[in-house]
Amino acid sequence: MRKPTFIVKQSLKIFCLLTGFAVMTWSFSFTKYIRGQFVNLNVLPERLKEYMYFMGRRLNGAYLSSLNKADNHDIPIIFIITPTYYRLVQKAELTRMANTLRLVKQLHWIIVEDFEVINLKTQEFFQSTGVSFTYFAQSKRSETNNHHRGADQRNAALDWIMVNHNPSMPAVIYFADDDNAYSLEIFQQMRYTKKLSMWPVGLSGGRTYETPILKDGKVIKFLAWKAEKRKFPIDMAGFALNANVLWTYKPMRFSTDADPGMLETKLLERCCTWAEIEPLADNCTKILVWHTRTEKPKVRMFDNVLEV
Ligand code: UGA
Ligand code: MN
Repeated sequence: MRKPTFIVKQSLKIFCLLTGFAVMTWSFSFTKYIRGQFVNLNVLPERLKEYMYFMGRRLNGAYLSSLNKADNHDIPIIFIITPTYYRLVQKAELTRMANTLRLVKQLHWIIVEDFEVINLKTQEFFQSTGVSFTYFAQSKRSETNNHHRGADQRNAALDWIMVNHNPSMPAVIYFADDDNAYSLEIFQQMRYTKKLSMWPVGLSGGRTYETPILKDGKVIKFLAWKAEKRKFPIDMAGFALNANVLWTYKPMRFSTDADPGMLETKLLERCCTWAEIEPLADNCTKILVWHTRTEKPKVRMFDNVLEV
């Protein structure tokens, strides 16, 4: 027969172990929050979650619009629409992108965070870049198919343009994901897009590149994934639209119930024909954008002192 003190001691040990484990798990989640990254909201107590959500709604409206800072009003504005979401490489991706965009004149960058609230650290980062920008949050809408990354965010950005931009001012819209690579030349070329311009995209669709094929300066077919099934078989990075189409062909929005890979073509089918495609990049003979994808880092230790 074991002594009662032995049983008490064992129970105490188990209790301490369990408590320790619970505290470690909780502090890990909390650490993530205090880094300002607003991830893992679900592990927080309900009241705190609601409070953060409430604060977030307020932050949501507090985006910074600095269109007036754009430097040269004689040339069309380029609206860059970038959906983004929190992951370890987010700041690295956005830094790389900002370093490109800051070299382009008369450009306004609309960044849409795929979450309930914006991230203040990310907003501070955008402020530090000197790029004219608007940053707000739009989480994925519940009816959206999971396979469409960034669609609701892009639609929210299009809504923003229609509210904030005066359509009599010339402007062009480009959907630029945060992980691609962009030459400066492509921005100069897309600026004067009459309706729809297109160019090849490197490393896209499982090929070395996807591109429209031209004959006498007109598109006659596409070299691309599922070219026979899609009217405009082109990646998001391979076209720009004149902002006018937003007012002429309402509603110019992405169909979030489209089949996988059909997002781009479904949008362009709303407004354009092949005959209207304006080929850029020296008649589609140069690769000026690349559909690069960043490898997920293999992190085993979370050291939280420095922000990554
Ligand atoms: C390809 C196309 O290039 C995208 O334009 C298209 O939206 C996407 O497929 C799709 O249809 O799902 P891919 O490299 O596979 O792109 O996708 P990501 O780069 O992972 O995502 C596209 C954009 O959405 C990025 O800017 C990314 O930051 C953003 N995103 C991704 C979110 O906002 N939320 C997510 O959960 C994932
Ligand atoms: Mn990508």
